[in-house]
Amino acid sequence: MRIDVVTIFPEYLEPLNVSLVGKARAAGRLDVRVHDLRGWAHDRHNTVDDTPYGGGPGMVMMTGPWGEALDQTLADGYEAGARQPVLVVPTPSGRPFTQAVAAELSARPWLIFTPARYEGIDTRVTAEYATRMPVHEVSIGDYVLAGGEAAVLVITEAVARLLPGVLGNAQSHADDSFAPGPMASLLEGPVYTKPPAWRGRGIPDVLLSGHHGKIARWRRDEAFRRTVEHRPDLIEQADPAAFDKKDREMLSILGWQAGPDGRFGRNPDAMEE
Ligand code: ADE
Repeated sequence: MRIDVVTIFPEYLEPLNVSLVGKARAAGRLDVRVHDLRGWAHDRHNTVDDTPYGGGPGMVMMTGPWGEALDQTLADGYEAGARQPVLVVPTPSGRPFTQAVAAELSARPWLIFTPARYEGIDTRVTAEYATRMPVHEVSIGDYVLAGGEAAVLVITEAVARLLPGVLGNAQSHADDSFAPGPMASLLEGPVYTKPPAWRGRGIPDVLLSGHHGKIARWRRDEAFRRTVEHRPDLIEQADPAAFDKKDREMLSILGWQAGPDGRFGRNPDAMEE
């Protein structure tokens, strides 16, 4: 996969040299190129922003430098043999970035990121490039960062670990929280490693039993426990067809019941009308 990032803070992307993403780059599975947007500014202050039409606070990133930067980035990439680019625009106004979006992006050969500072990029830039390639405007969460660079780090790491050969064990992401499949939408439960006793705290016996079936069931029960506690919305939205008899027993123990539409809710009384 090829990744281009155009930013006014290239040094902010230094973490892409470290750990999993750094190793994927070193192994040649990921080709990351970071470009300084100010290289496409033309005045002596290297200006890339201006005041918003219609007034209001803050500054807006100008079409000119972004247009030239993206034209050049596209031309260079195509010349190097890259194909089928996708433009990824981090913005708090975007669609939520989820594991499903990470999986979708990981199947593409070329991502171009345009992290913005200030109040964002003049909308005509995304409108223009949307005529040439798919554009994903994505938000990494319901909070506002000072710029999109941290979002690029987040998205790149989530995507890179899904690339073939990047994680040692392909099963590692089959079990992830939010992994697609019938286990979808359950958070992962607790994990333990050696030593077997620490400050008076032991390991659940089942994990030492060697009984794979029982261990799998225990893990799923714990996943329900954690999901009910931290993300009850995931249980409410889940397709009840994904829950087997044991799942339903566990949900019942946790105080959840199927409503008239089959979906599970915490407070069955509230559903009767
Ligand atoms: N830029 C600023 N806040 C952001 C967010 N929550 N997600 C993506 N990009 C952003």
